[in-house]
Formats: sequence, C-alpha cells, structure tokens
Amino acid sequence: MEFKKLIDERRSVRRYSSGINREDLEKILRAAQRAPSWGNRQASRCYAVTDEEIVEKLRKAALPASNQNNSANAVLVVTTFEKGVVGFRDGEPANEIGDGWGAYDLGLHDAYMILAAKDLGYDTLIMGMRDSEAIRDIIGIPESEEILSVIAVGKRDEEPSVRPRKEFDEVVRFI
Ligand SMILES: Cc1cc2nc3c(=O)[nH]c(=O)nc-3n(C[C@H](O)[C@H](O)[C@H](O)COP(=O)(O)O)c2cc1C
Repeated sequence: MEFKKLIDERRSVRRYSSGINREDLEKILRAAQRAPSWGNRQASRCYAVTDEEIVEKLRKAALPASNQNNSANAVLVVTTFEKGVVGFRDGEPANEIGDGWGAYDLGLHDAYMILAAKDLGYDTLIMGMRDSEAIRDIIGIPESEEILSVIAVGKRDEEPSVRPRKEFDEVVRFI
C-alpha cells in the first residue's frame, strides 16, 4: 500500500471477523524487528498468541471487559522489553530516561508492527489496559521483561471513523 494511504487509513479497530494466519503474522513480526533500537540492542520481545484456547484464557484473565469485547475473534500479540538493556551502559542508566528507552524502542517496534499489519490487509488494536501479572502467569514471561501492550490483530468487521488530532500548532513548534 502507498505509504501516505497506509498512514491515512490505519486506525484502531474494535470489531474483528477473524484473526490472522501464521504466515502473515510472521511477516508482520519480522517487519517489526526491522525497527531501529538504541545501539541496535534489540531488547523488544513479542509473544504471538494464536492458540485459540490460550487466546481466550488471556482475554478473560488479563483484559478488562471493554478490551475483551473489542478484541474478540482477533489473535493477540503481547509486547515486552528486556529491562536494563536499552539506555544502559555497564549496567547503569546512560541518562535520566533509564528503562524509558526500552519502552521507547518497543513503541517503535509496535508502530512498525501495526503499519506492517495494515499493509498486509489486517487491522490492530493496541491495548494498554491489561493485567500484566495475569499475562506473565499465563504465558510464562520472565521478570526480566517489562510487559507493555497486548495488540489485537485480525480482519476488521467495522469501518471506524477517524479519531481527531490536535491542531498541528498545538503540538509542533518550529524554532
Ligand atoms: C499505548 C496505547 C494504549 C492504548 N490502549 C488502549 C486500550 O486499552 N483500549 C482501547 O480500546 N484502545 C487503546 N488504545 C487505542 C487508542 O485509543 C487510539 O490509538 C487513539 O484513540 C487514536 O485512534 P486511532 O488509533 O484510531 O488513530 C491505545 C493506544 C496506545 C498507543
């Protein structure tokens, strides 16, 4: 898809008719891996949950009702980062941001992921409202990783309207 069209047409989708096949999901996650990272440390991780039983278990245990409903029929990708890697030098934070850089890199990773999904004809919903400890237990994610988002991926079953953005001048200053 042409890049501008991709940006214009991507939106958070909260109704899915189906998920995504393994081959396409792998393509999307490989694209996400191409995202830049601090010192090329590549501390972002993802757990692609495609097994229907585990998807349901995760949805019920780890998502609030709204996100459970909004992600029905989609597969779920949990994204995390290895703590103390990105933004660290000799085991010490390189500056005041610390592990915030790990979250920064994971955001880039996830941005690549949702755009790659759109490019292949799928839609996504990033969910920050989730119970990280329930996710950790169900999937078996080590304590060394910070769990950030759960991302629903699938075929859309709605045409969501465009969410408004603030005025350009409110968020950008040319100096
Ligand atoms: C970090 C993050 C967390 C989010 N968490 C949720 C969530 O828990 N539930 C939800 O329905 N949408 C969630 N969203 C989606 C936002 O509401 C959505 O991106 C925003 O309203 C702009 O709409 P658009 O994505 O369609 O452009 C989240 C988005 C981001 C980036």
